[in-house]
Amino acid sequence: MKILIVHGPNLNLLGKRKKEIYGDKTLEEINSLLQQQAKELGVEIITFQSNSEGSLIDFIQAESPTVEGIIINPGALTHYGLSLRDALGDTDLPVIEVHLSNIYSREEFRQRSVIAPIAKGQISGLGWKGYIAALRTLVAELRGKAWQ
Ligand code: DQA
Repeated sequence: MKILIVHGPNLNLLGKRKKEIYGDKTLEEINSLLQQQAKELGVEIITFQSNSEGSLIDFIQAESPTVEGIIINPGALTHYGLSLRDALGDTDLPVIEVHLSNIYSREEFRQRSVIAPIAKGQISGLGWKGYIAALRTLVAELRGKAWQ
């Protein structure tokens, strides 16, 4: 089983960027925790980050035919990235949207996600652990089993 983990704009700066909001782990550390979890679950993950919506879409279009699900933190594209939303929706794969911060407790513009309607679910505000929860839940769902 293969799953894509996609990180949107500015998430390459994790560990330096607004640590009080996004935590102190770097993207590399989060990806490595995800790799560890994937190994324990016996699944393969492919991680990707870009600051450009077009590159995110190219990656999703190229890789989605060979995977079973997508976990994505779309960064600020969450709030206006309609081409990204279409690309995700066009895959017909289960998508889990993850946010490090609780987008509902922040500025008004962050409280709307254009991705959420095409996502199976959303995890917001649990920091890096949200990615792990998303991976475990998605794999359990795909295997038709309870979260364990
Ligand atoms: C974010 C929330 C977005 O509003 C913001 O633009 C980000 C990160 C999060 O993980 O909390 O870049 O997606």
